[in-house]
Amino acid sequence: MALTLLNWKKKAILERCHDDYATKMLLKYKPFYHTMEAQQGAHVRLHGEEMIMLASNDYLGLSFHPKVIEAGRAAMLQWGSSTTGARISNGSRAYHVELEEKLAAFLNREASFVSAAGYISCLSSVAAFAQKGDVVFADKNIHSCIWDGIRLSMATVERFSHNNPEDLRSLIKTVPHGTPKLIVVEGVYSMEGHIVPLGEIAAIADEFGAFLVVDDAHGFGVLGRQGRGTADHLHVNDQVDVLCGSLSKSLGSTGGFVAASRKVIDFLRFNSKQTIFSAAISPSQAGCALAALDVIQQEPQHLERLWRNVRHYRAMLKGLGLDTWDSETPALPIVLGSKELVYRFWQALLEKGVFTVMSIAPAVPPGKDLVRTAISALHSDDDLDRIADAMAYAVKKL
Ligand SMILES: Cc1ncc(COP(=O)(O)O)c(C=O)c1O
Repeated sequence: MALTLLNWKKKAILERCHDDYATKMLLKYKPFYHTMEAQQGAHVRLHGEEMIMLASNDYLGLSFHPKVIEAGRAAMLQWGSSTTGARISNGSRAYHVELEEKLAAFLNREASFVSAAGYISCLSSVAAFAQKGDVVFADKNIHSCIWDGIRLSMATVERFSHNNPEDLRSLIKTVPHGTPKLIVVEGVYSMEGHIVPLGEIAAIADEFGAFLVVDDAHGFGVLGRQGRGTADHLHVNDQVDVLCGSLSKSLGSTGGFVAASRKVIDFLRFNSKQTIFSAAISPSQAGCALAALDVIQQEPQHLERLWRNVRHYRAMLKGLGLDTWDSETPALPIVLGSKELVYRFWQALLEKGVFTVMSIAPAVPPGKDLVRTAISALHSDDDLDRIADAMAYAVKKL
């Protein structure tokens, strides 16, 4: 009897995998999982065709910087390919501590803690601190890793309208005074390219005694002095309790970080299951991130080039009458409003050798179906001209 029940349950899950309609549609239309056959900087080869990559998070173009590549190679030669263990047990190395100290100093924090993925770091920035009985206030458009962190924390969640401090205030003022509160926002929203109104959010956090967490995966390296991020850009660094982010975007590596006061980081180190039971960031990942952190402080030309490209590209899109959702940053969506239009536009760009990414509801709010593009310091003037021609062609195809 017990065995039959078990078999039935197993079969139900197998059937779910075999019969899922959404998976079947994705396999049929193949919008995702495009496998590049080669890459050199902002150029990739897909199905034998040379393409311009216009959807990468390599904002500063450091993933092909010679110093970054060399540091990754040297770290692997010195330390091997992996720590094969978690930081808390056998996986801590001197290069982890060096990276954490340098990141903390750059972000003007007492301490930081790195992990093997931005997803883990940002998730743990909520999951490690909030608990059952607390209330987490989250912007409706935050990244999936933060939603997962909230779920794991078991705290109650209140969602406020995107980038709307007044809505946040109307929710937070209804929560009893003594209840522990955490507010979580992104510095730069990855789909929309919007910058958070952090001054107003931080003022509300102060007024209501809420712990403020900022996921700055897309602001780090892009905004603020030398790329110190959104809090630095908006002069509210002191009011943010936890800054978290990714090493896989502007730093051209892989991994994540959490930066805060020493006591907060010490608490995290002993209370974040996601990092306690997961192997440490590898030598080459940490080596690349360390070198990239030096590069962004020593070579301002990458940040300058990025913003020059952003201005040029955004003006071109506006000139074509495209809706960029008022993005202010290198993450520039092209909002088309339906999945059919998104598919047609994306396909036309592909035909002209420009690779972008489709994002359709429910990944974005209904009516905001879009093609996500992101500009990089790696794009040359010639690339920008080719992108402009491809965009004009795609507009005609709508
Ligand atoms: C806002 C945000 N947070 C966290 C992450 C996770 O970072 P990683 O890709 O390094 O795991 C991402 C990645 O897309 C992101 O956009």
